[in-house]
Formats: sequence, structure tokens, C-alpha cells
Amino acid sequence: MKVTIVGTGYVGLVTGACLAELGNDVFCLDSDADKVALLQAGGMPIYEPGLQEIVQRNVEEGRLLFSSDVKASVAFGDVQFIAVGTPPRDDGSADLSCVFDAARAIGRHMDRFRVVVQKSTVPVGTAEQVARLVRAELQAHGKDLDFSVVSNPEFLKEGAAVQDFMAPDRIVVGADDDLPGRRALALLRQLYAPVNRNQERLRVMDVRSAELTKYAANAMLATRISFMNELANLADCLGADIELVRQGIGSDPRIGYSFLQAGAGYGGSCFPKDVDALCRTAQSSGTRLAVLEAVQSANLRQKQVLLDKVLAHFGGDLRGRTIAVLGLAFKPDTDDMREAPSRALVAGLLRAGARVVAHDPVAREQAQRALEHDLAGEPQLLAQLGYVERPTSALEGADAVVIVTEWRHYRTLSASLLKRSMRTPLVFDGRNLLDPHQLASQGVACVGIGRSN
Ligand code: UGA
Repeated sequence: MKVTIVGTGYVGLVTGACLAELGNDVFCLDSDADKVALLQAGGMPIYEPGLQEIVQRNVEEGRLLFSSDVKASVAFGDVQFIAVGTPPRDDGSADLSCVFDAARAIGRHMDRFRVVVQKSTVPVGTAEQVARLVRAELQAHGKDLDFSVVSNPEFLKEGAAVQDFMAPDRIVVGADDDLPGRRALALLRQLYAPVNRNQERLRVMDVRSAELTKYAANAMLATRISFMNELANLADCLGADIELVRQGIGSDPRIGYSFLQAGAGYGGSCFPKDVDALCRTAQSSGTRLAVLEAVQSANLRQKQVLLDKVLAHFGGDLRGRTIAVLGLAFKPDTDDMREAPSRALVAGLLRAGARVVAHDPVAREQAQRALEHDLAGEPQLLAQLGYVERPTSALEGADAVVIVTEWRHYRTLSASLLKRSMRTPLVFDGRNLLDPHQLASQGVACVGIGRSN
């Protein structure tokens, strides 16, 4: 099948590359000429395991091409995925201007039936607005053509996106129950057939329900995390261990184990933005999502917990102290620094007078940019921040080490290494990666999240 993807951001690039890998001919459109040239030459603008190989192979074999030619992109694909960015505006609402530009371009240039697939995460009702814009362009250009706008939200996780695409839990498709809608659905069934295992992964519904499903999924996952983070803080007060509690409740199949890991708060480009957007949607619909509002504020508080623990240990004054920070990206296997809990932590450590030596396997440059932004008015603090190539180098002479992201590289930190390298062997484990009891028995203090120590 011939497919066009509008936008080569994280979602568009993964979707385009994977659809090409499944044997489709894919045209990826992006207005950024430098990015197009990079991708066409086999380069990668983001870090995502397995993606580069797929892009390179499919470009070489002629199934995947990148271009900035809008007219050619509309002419190419029977299915047109809109996967452009929808960044939050200052008031928190999603900026949909790129989505709407894409819709207008499709209406302006289309010359036969088209399926327009809304892939970007957008507020409920956006597909209807997209349909109105396509229709208006068709009318303005005197064209009488059928089309259908379908909602097909993505559920990819950064760091596991290729695997999530190739073996999805579910493929949600929201389509209208009219002739063009049914035709669109048939095309999408065909497109997704190779990954629709046992024919049971596709969930077909109306467009608005599909749009809401996306927000509901992220909101539910964020709720589980905030719930566990609050329980972890309580466990700290009560002398209980949240890890044991997690195992105790996760073994109930009604609850399950996933997304119950207490930590330094959730970050990334999705949970914070989507939780906020859903709360706003509810407010503007005249109702309130009180649970979700609490999830959001609990997460903001949680991002301070690690810093509070460090400050409490050192009596609030970190002057003359060197703190090692391990992991900067918002989660492992990505270089994404958006809303990363490490940002508030590093800024707070520097403001309290510490020298910070940080390590991250891939996010160093992005981290530096993010912190330059966060500390824009305080350049003298940035001078106290350094990066090292290896986690062991960060430990040398440090007064404490803080684990913020659970990269696998940090799982093997041993008591002997910590004692040998650090000025004082003290760990603040923001992801409960290490066993605090075992470390304590070997003379290393390890303060986790909700582990009563
Ligand atoms: C999330 C969803 O998991 C995807 O299904 C969705 O498609 C994506 O958002 C999106 O909307 O695009 P992602 O943001 O890549 O994916 O990352 P997650 O693995 O979900 O982690 C989000 C945050 O929650 C991270 O900061 C992570 O450290 C935190 N987390 C996750 C916890 O604190 N505890 C957990 O148990 C799990």
C-alpha cells in the first residue's frame, strides 16, 4: 500500500519506518529540510533502539523516502497519516496549527479518495475539525472528492517503540459509520493486518471514543504511578517497604505489576501533557476530573522528593559537596529530557551550592540544553555542572550519588565500588534500583523511595 506520513517526529518516524518494514511504500514529509537530508542519508535525529537499522534498510531498498514536497506527499499515499507535533501552548492547551496546516494541504492537493489518519495526540473533536478543513479546501478548489478522517492513536513507548509497533497490544481505530468511513476502515485493516495478531488486536469504535481512549490510557497509567508514589511516601513515614507492598498487590491479577514502580515522578512528553490536557478538556466541558487533578499535583510534588531527601541529609547546605547524578533522560533507552525529573533535581542541587557530576549514556547534550534553559538567569550555577563518560567516573570523590533514571548500567553498582570510589558511600536511589538492605549490610547507606531508610 502507498502511505504518506506527515511529520517525522518520534511518532511519524517510527510509524513510517515500521510500515515500510512491513512492505509498504512510505513517503515521509517534513518541512525541516536538514532533517529530511539527514534521514535520507541514513542518519537519525532521535535515539530509539532498532530504528536506525530499519530506516537505513528501507531507504536503501527504496520503500521509504523523505521529502519536503507537500504536493508530492499528498499525491503519493492513499492513506495520509498526520503525525505532526502538538506542543502545549502557554495556557497548557495543545497547539494544533501543524495538524490543521496538514489537513488544509491534503484538501488542497488531493485528487482521489484519501484516508486521513489522525495519529498525533489531539483533543477530542479534532478529527471533526480536520474533516471540516479538508472539506473547505475541496470546496474552495471546486473538487468533489470523498475522504474520511480516522482516529488511530499511538501507544508507543519511547525506548520500545519499534517492538510496540510490530507487536501491539491493541490498534485503536475510530471511524465514521458511513460509506467513506467503512472504506477507510477496510484500508486500515489491510495496512495493519501483518501486526494484527490472531485478528484480535484491532479495536474499532467511533472517532470520539478513539480520541478519548488515548488520553484515558495515559491518564490511567499516570494515576497508578502517582498512587504508588504517594504510598511510597507514606511507607517512608510508617516504616514499610513499598517494593514489598508492590509485589503484594501486583500479584492480584485485577491489579497487575506494571506501572506500579514508585520513583522520582513521571516525566516525558506524554504523561504530563496528556494528564493536563484531559483535566482542561473536562473543565471546558463543564465537569471536573478531581482524581486526575490530584495525580498531576502529586507528580509535581514527587519530582521534589529526591532533592528533599538529599537536602535533609546534608542539613540543607550543599556548599563544598560533590553530588554524582546518574541518569538524566526521563527514562532509560531514550535521550528525551522533556519533563525529566533530573531537571528539577540538578537545578536544586546546584542552587543549594553543590558541584554536580552527571552521567547519562545518551542524553548528555539534550540535558545540557535543557538545563541551560532552566537555569537561564543563573549561568554561574551551570559552571558547577560537569559530565563524565562513565558512571564510575561520576562516583570518584563524591559525597553522595543520586540515581534518577534506571539505566541498566547502574544496576551493577556494588558496595565495594561505591566504598572504593566515593568520599562517603551514600546512595539516593530515585528508582529503587538497588537493594538498600544488602548495601546497608555492606556498609553503604542507600535511601530509596518508600523503602524506610
Ligand atoms: C507513554 C505510554 O506508556 C505509551 O503507551 C504512550 O504511547 C506514550 O506515553 C505516548 O503517549 O506517546 P512514554 O512517555 O514513552 O510512554 O514512557 P513510559 O514508559 O510510559 O514512562 C513515562 C514515565 O513514567 C517515565 O518518567 C517513567 O519513569 C515513569 N514511570 C513508569 C514510573 O515512574 N513508574 C512506573 O512504574 C512506570
